[in-house]
Amino acid sequence: MVVLSPRLSALCALLLTVCANAQSASTVTALSSSAPASVSSAVSASSTASELSSTVSSVSASSFATSETSVASITSSLSSVASESFSTLSSFSSAVSGSTAASSSLPASASSTDIASLSTLSSAASASTGPPLESTQITLPISSYGFTSFPVPSASPIPGVFPSTAPKSPPPPGSSLIPDFGPAWARAHSRARQQISGWSLEQKVSVATGVGWMGGRCVGNIAPVADWPGLCLEDSPLGVRFTDFVTAFPAGITTASTWRRDLFRARGLAMGREFKGKGVHVALGPMMNMGRIAQGGRNWEGFGADPFLTGEAAYETVLGLQNGGVQACAKHYINNEQEHFRTQESSNVDDRTEHEIYLHPFMRSVQAGVASVMCSYNLVNDTYACQNDRTLNQLLKDEIGFQGYVMSDWGAHHSTLAAVAGLDMSMPGDITFSSHTSWYGANLTAYVENGTIAESRVDDMAERIIAAYYLLEQDQNYPEVSFNAFDMTDPATNAHVDVQADHYKVVREIGSAGAVLLKNVAGALPLKTPRSIAVIGNDSGPSTRGPNGYSDRGGDDGTLAMGWGSGTTQFPYLVTPLEAIQARAQQDAPGTQVSWWLSNWDTAGAAATAFQQDVALVFVNADSGEDYITVDGNEGDRKNLTLWINADPLIEAVASANPNTVVVVHSVGPAIIEPWIENPNVTAVIWASLPGQESGNAIVDVLWGDVNPSGRLPYTIAKSPADYGAQLITGGTGDEILRIDYTEGLNIDYRHFDSNNIEPRFEFGFGLSYTTFSYSGLHVSTIPQADRTSAALEAAWASGKAAPAAAGGSTALWLHRPAFKVTFQVRNTGHVAGTEIAQLYVHFPAGAGEPPSVLRGFEDVQDVRPGESRTVSITLSRYDLSVWDAEAQGWKKPAGKFEFSVGTSSRDFRLKGTIPV
Ligand code: NOJ
Repeated sequence: MVVLSPRLSALCALLLTVCANAQSASTVTALSSSAPASVSSAVSASSTASELSSTVSSVSASSFATSETSVASITSSLSSVASESFSTLSSFSSAVSGSTAASSSLPASASSTDIASLSTLSSAASASTGPPLESTQITLPISSYGFTSFPVPSASPIPGVFPSTAPKSPPPPGSSLIPDFGPAWARAHSRARQQISGWSLEQKVSVATGVGWMGGRCVGNIAPVADWPGLCLEDSPLGVRFTDFVTAFPAGITTASTWRRDLFRARGLAMGREFKGKGVHVALGPMMNMGRIAQGGRNWEGFGADPFLTGEAAYETVLGLQNGGVQACAKHYINNEQEHFRTQESSNVDDRTEHEIYLHPFMRSVQAGVASVMCSYNLVNDTYACQNDRTLNQLLKDEIGFQGYVMSDWGAHHSTLAAVAGLDMSMPGDITFSSHTSWYGANLTAYVENGTIAESRVDDMAERIIAAYYLLEQDQNYPEVSFNAFDMTDPATNAHVDVQADHYKVVREIGSAGAVLLKNVAGALPLKTPRSIAVIGNDSGPSTRGPNGYSDRGGDDGTLAMGWGSGTTQFPYLVTPLEAIQARAQQDAPGTQVSWWLSNWDTAGAAATAFQQDVALVFVNADSGEDYITVDGNEGDRKNLTLWINADPLIEAVASANPNTVVVVHSVGPAIIEPWIENPNVTAVIWASLPGQESGNAIVDVLWGDVNPSGRLPYTIAKSPADYGAQLITGGTGDEILRIDYTEGLNIDYRHFDSNNIEPRFEFGFGLSYTTFSYSGLHVSTIPQADRTSAALEAAWASGKAAPAAAGGSTALWLHRPAFKVTFQVRNTGHVAGTEIAQLYVHFPAGAGEPPSVLRGFEDVQDVRPGESRTVSITLSRYDLSVWDAEAQGWKKPAGKFEFSVGTSSRDFRLKGTIPV
């Protein structure tokens, strides 16, 4: 028998009332199924109990310390209950529900069993902004955040400094001015409020409930309500999925490798126009998970393993997509870092790491005015990401002031009560695909009707969704959906609208700018009119099945230009390296001999083909994708870090026959290349990543020197898999939640190598050029702040006080506006024009608990002529120089000396300075 303290008994009484009420909700549901028929539901008492239990853990399991100074008093009192009462509440909720996976494995750090603040909980709950607690009408005190519909981070824009902005008029790429979307959101919310003012509860619930899997023409669909036309939601982060006459853009990882904000933006804009052209309202990207695990199956959809680089790419991509007219969707929120057991793992992350690494790109997306966010499949600190009050309500909607809506990943929605934890839209709408049941729909209606969930919350959900539609002006001549994602050849539902325009140009430019030159001995590259060329490897040629022969690109056959899974498109065409090389060689010198060998397994044939040719170009790859497809034993995540299809023996065989062997790697992420990287006959290596449809043209641009390479690695290439800090977790039975403890904290990728003095093969930020650059003339200055309205906050920050916690506090302008300026000169000291990627790394004061170097700025210096010097400036904000103080719940400048380096990679520093903080 469980013996309870008096205070805990009181809490139990409260929760049991709720439980009883929740159970009666399921009875009511069966009686009043007024939502669309396709999503009418049946919820059992046991599922309601487990729902309650996991929602309880959403209060209790957030292992984030909070002080009295944080947010509103309700937040601090509830959080203090939460952080003090893990074990007790956990065992209590297990006792109530018969134990659920979500509540049974709590973080090890949650040790206190004292439930000291129960009386505070009750009084805080009754003092909340929601409806009063009554015995028959209970509004659950589950959310610690009152639902203001949109906290405004920049309510008073400062003219000339932070211009008022709408998605159609973004600041130019790379501008350090922070766009103020506040007024545009305010207008959009006001229109949304008007729109829904006369709507019934069922109509508002319908806006929050997808029509069910394959219930419409897009991968996600919201039904029309009255004269509002509903929504089409469609993948992917690299183009419009499941339709024709669209562009297959380079993957996120290739785009990040350019380190060029103009290209991040240009790709986003071109994609935005294509989504709009096809009638899609919501583009399901960009994807901004962090590449914590080198083998992570979907890393290639994102922007690499550094939060700053990922944040800049996410920011510019969102601005571009939304300028093109489509709503962007920042995904997958949050800590969805591996595919293995992605729906059955809890990513256990401390609050500081969450803020500084994983939340940062989402914060940048919010700063770009992102319309929607997709919560992920996994649990975060033992609570599902799509019913996680801490990550959805507290971090996203309150702390960083997100004013749009949160949709679930497809099937990542587990309870009706997720509504109170911050989930606004259920996708695709049904509990399991095609089940015709829904956690929202009739269940949500019933929960509101019986008082379990406040109607104001449903108003907030509908308002957020419809506001995003108006933010993007999708009521103004928006095209009709003109394709059918589930039947691309049906003549009745596919108009085959061509939306490609001249977007192939940006594809080609990113393909060449994203190619990273890793090795180039004695000027092997660029090619100098070779008389004979051998092209070797399966990766150089076409697939036997054509570019789209494998469903969702789930096969590695022929040249690799994207990974597999939902993050793909159909290729309209795919220029292979082999065909582009043949064409370029003849253009270079008619009669150039080009031979090829496409079998990776017959290495003797490959060697014979390469023998006595002026140059042997070997193309190899490594692939990965989403977990619903397994390719060659790789269940989404890569099973190892070696290159695929016998690549290492192939390269070695060719190199043994040809002293001028050039290797081109198309890879989803880092791979181990130790077997051959130091082979003297391997004279050059290009890391060409995943270039999209113009693959062959992009690589010939680099091989022949029409484009001087300037790409930089967005991750570290290690000498051994064991050198990476965080490793793929492959255990688990599926019957219980797999624990993934982020024990490495801030030390992912290069931060781990630096902190532990591990020599990488090629470090983060590394990449060669056909020319050389020198750096000089470092100057650091403080930027005078014309606006004095935040002087007190700035002074408090300078004195080492944590920034006060408040709605929109983490995106406050005073924290993000440029505060320090670093200038220096970059000079081209070689013989050809080239682009340099200058990088700035901050070295936080000793004792700040930061890794030795953290990227906080980069600038592309384009087309510098030989002998020419350019002045480069990079600004730093107070946020850039802050760490997250988990106790005070605010951004804080650690005490001590701030040093920084400017250079050409995370280890090749050319200038060093001190920041005058
Ligand atoms: C699941 C994936 O995780 C997500 O990225 C995608 O947008 C949805 N499926 C819809 O296809």
